[in-house]
Amino acid sequence: MTWVDEIAERADALLPAYVAAYYRGSAGGGECLREGLAAWEDLRLRPSVLHDTTTIGTAVDVLGTRVRTPVLVAPMAQQVAARPEGEVLTGRAVAEHGSLLGVSTNTGVHFADVAGTGAPWWYQVYVMQDRSLTQRLVERAATAGARALALTVDTTALAPALPGIEPTEWPDTPGKARLVNLTAAELESAGPHGLRSAEDLTPDVIGWLREVSGGLPVAVKGVLTARDARRCVDAGAAAVLVSTHGGRRLGTSVTSAAALPEVVAEVGGEVEVHVDSGLRAGHHVAAALALGARAVHVGRPVMWGLASGGSEGVSAVLQRLHDELVTTLRQMGVGDVADLRPADVARKP
Ligand SMILES: Cc1cc2nc3c(=O)[nH]c(=O)nc-3n(C[C@H](O)[C@H](O)[C@H](O)COP(=O)(O)O)c2cc1C
Repeated sequence: MTWVDEIAERADALLPAYVAAYYRGSAGGGECLREGLAAWEDLRLRPSVLHDTTTIGTAVDVLGTRVRTPVLVAPMAQQVAARPEGEVLTGRAVAEHGSLLGVSTNTGVHFADVAGTGAPWWYQVYVMQDRSLTQRLVERAATAGARALALTVDTTALAPALPGIEPTEWPDTPGKARLVNLTAAELESAGPHGLRSAEDLTPDVIGWLREVSGGLPVAVKGVLTARDARRCVDAGAAAVLVSTHGGRRLGTSVTSAAALPEVVAEVGGEVEVHVDSGLRAGHHVAAALALGARAVHVGRPVMWGLASGGSEGVSAVLQRLHDELVTTLRQMGVGDVADLRPADVARKP
């Protein structure tokens, strides 16, 4: 059992069963979740010798923000079900570690409170059928200090492991809170379908978001093919985030680790490529960066850290991943994350 499995078990024991199931949830038969974890674990690193590794550099620039670590925190809804303060606790740990926080459209925390943590943050956008509500959220996030937008373009389809797995079907508790950055009147005005994800999105939504946010860079989250990466970049995306939504989108999807090289080959010379889904260890992070990712985003381990230990729990997860990354780089003979190359990675024999 890994240290991540241990905190996951600790979190499960503390949470209502429907919350624990929602955090662990995956699409279809869970193939993409399982294979997504295995894909990183099956990569092998090619160490090199006789390099000065007295100091190890891990700082990178992500869409104009300098962060001390390439391990960022993915946007996740329902953090208030792990701890009532939700992203406020996550954000404090992120600020302490010089990382960056993704903030979900569905967050149960007000933007001003996210900003108060001192963590740099990106606002994750789900474009809703009522676009005027999306526009208001984006404007409010920009005003509150979001550094960029992460436009999520995949549709989640969680397999119903337990009845009530979708938060909208949860019992009425504070942990169910979401979309709190819209007013009650705005939520009311949305009508029966207004809050649902728009199903008519095309790449021109990227330009629209840039415009309504007053020029924030847009990273497109959920890209898994070179062709789509090209369409996003041609439409003005500043970054693409290779992601299977943590195996929550399509059970039989290709994994992020498999998709990353073709996306980097297509657009890596023009924009930042980021990756998430299934990263659980420092050697996974090193492999992802070697394959061309600027940074990785981590989801569930952070949520389990939050549920089991609050801000300190998140801090422990970020510290452990950072320490493992530094150790891996030293063992590889690489003094700075910027020096990692695709040739540093091999497939399992
Ligand atoms: C409980 C949970 C809630 C999530 N909520 C969102 C969300 O609101 N918006 C979004 O773009 N991605 C969401 N995601 C996906 C994450 O941003 C990220 O892509 C994924 O968790 C990465 O995989 P990992 O959990 O294996 O690290 C969520 C993931 C989980 C586990």
